[in-house]
Amino acid sequence: MLFGWFLRSLYCQLPAIHLIQFFYKSLSFLGFSFRILQMASSTLICDTEPWKDLKNHVQEIKKTHLRDLMSDTDRCQSMMVEFDGILLDYSRQNATLKTMDKLYQLAEAAQLNNKINRMYNGEKINSTENRSVLHVALRAPRDAAINSDGKNVVPEVWKVLDKIKEFSETIRSGSWVGATGKVLKDVVAVGIGGSFLGPLFVHTALQTDLEAIECARGRQLRFLANVDPIDVAKSITGLNPETTLVVVVSKTFTTAETMLNARTLREWISTALGPSAVAKHMVAVSTNLTLVEKFGIDPNNAFAFWDWVGGRYSVCSAVGVLPLSLQYGFSVVEKFLKGAWSIDQHFISAPYEKNIPVLLGLLSIWNVSFLGHPARAILPYSQALEKFAPHIQQVSMESNGKGVSIDGVPLPFEAGEIDFGEPGTNGQHSFYQLIHQGRVIPCDFIGVVKSQQPVYLKGEVVSNHDELMSNFFAQPDALAVGKTPEQLQKENVAPHLIPHKLLAIYEHRIAVEGFIWGINSFDQWGVELGKSLATQVRKQLHASRMKREPIEGFNFSTTTLLTRYLEASSDIPSDPSTLLPRI
Ligand code: F6P
Repeated sequence: MLFGWFLRSLYCQLPAIHLIQFFYKSLSFLGFSFRILQMASSTLICDTEPWKDLKNHVQEIKKTHLRDLMSDTDRCQSMMVEFDGILLDYSRQNATLKTMDKLYQLAEAAQLNNKINRMYNGEKINSTENRSVLHVALRAPRDAAINSDGKNVVPEVWKVLDKIKEFSETIRSGSWVGATGKVLKDVVAVGIGGSFLGPLFVHTALQTDLEAIECARGRQLRFLANVDPIDVAKSITGLNPETTLVVVVSKTFTTAETMLNARTLREWISTALGPSAVAKHMVAVSTNLTLVEKFGIDPNNAFAFWDWVGGRYSVCSAVGVLPLSLQYGFSVVEKFLKGAWSIDQHFISAPYEKNIPVLLGLLSIWNVSFLGHPARAILPYSQALEKFAPHIQQVSMESNGKGVSIDGVPLPFEAGEIDFGEPGTNGQHSFYQLIHQGRVIPCDFIGVVKSQQPVYLKGEVVSNHDELMSNFFAQPDALAVGKTPEQLQKENVAPHLIPHKLLAIYEHRIAVEGFIWGINSFDQWGVELGKSLATQVRKQLHASRMKREPIEGFNFSTTTLLTRYLEASSDIPSDPSTLLPRI
């Protein structure tokens, strides 16, 4: 159901009319209806004995109080797992060791190990798109061998990494200069979704790291994602086209928002420096090098990746590595790749009971599908991890927000979870009340041992980081009644090494959930419907503005809204001349 209305603004500084649409559930079954027609080739996980056993086990757990579970030291000790500087404590989960055994049996029933191996072996587990899922190959060392279509892809990965290393050094050293001979010290990365959120997260995490700060001195990295012209204005405010390099990042090179933003920045450059400057000031990252060339970017200045890298899993490809290397230098980014690879090795080799992504995935399934808690709060007690929750929102919700099994059968249970989060302690002063007393929301508490930016004031009881961490340790216990926090703590590893491990842990956790729910975590048919409807609206706006054509083919609500929108903006000329941000 969709309905909407207008509010006339009372505030003169705001636009005269606001369009506000409230909507309620609109599951886009249309988007995957063709797949529902396919017949099931395998059993749904909810029909297996371990699933039924876990369903029966719920009553037993509901009788147990978390406070009692927490007082069982042996249980708590068994619920701590450590790997490579990361300590996972899941003792505040509403689960016993018996629950864990049952979850391991569920993993067996879902053939989890087999599915993980098939992923690493480059089998086409993204069956609806007929693709391998090999983001692990992006961080593999040079001598590793990982095959897709019978071909080792690692040499190709390193060919691109070497090209990025060389190119970023050329830019950073000033041997590549802009059209007017000035060093390109600023970068605007244009991209959206997976071509934006992962790189933004890593950039935000590195921005306060001491080594990274040194490497980035005098340079700026900005992102332009939203097609809103306000985002264009913000992304270029204070930048000089003469010293700016634009990196257009798009797997497909067809995403409407990115392509319009890319054309807008191309205009910004050529208006200031002449059309020939584009060659010096624009480069691209894409799997579609033909479209890159068509856009006017020299293919030599394009950095490839491959269709076996899902957009939301692409931060370790040129999507993230190029902009981050331009800002921080390749050697900083290489450390990031190594950290992710360490988790990749752990994920494929550790037994279930010691495997951090597997444990996190199984516990999420327990929370969502058995205890009935559909949301999950991601609460990093580190401002450097500020953009972690937005990144995981896409990785998790675009991956596992599915209504049909991988074989096209409608699921009789709800898969996926609702991810949201804020860094502690900001979240505490925002939405924690609901977590404390309103609803049961499983929480991922993420803490770090050492701050990137230690501060200590003489005379204060504790350092500023200890003050932060006091909250990190206190909140999970305050939530212990009916709440299920997990604690990550790491030791003796430089702070900037945290994000890459977290990133790989969460990627794999999401894969574990998808493998067990029996869905395809690597396609995203649901988002396509919105894209095609936007195309219809775009055509209508063009026709109405240019040729005064009536609005046709929309429901009453949308027709009314479009009419009011066109009326209220009728002072815009039908064919305006180019106008760039004035900020
Ligand atoms: O929103 C859908 C989506 O396809 C995401 O999966 C992807 O990360 C994003 O659009 C951007 O796509 P591209 O990198 O092709 O521009």
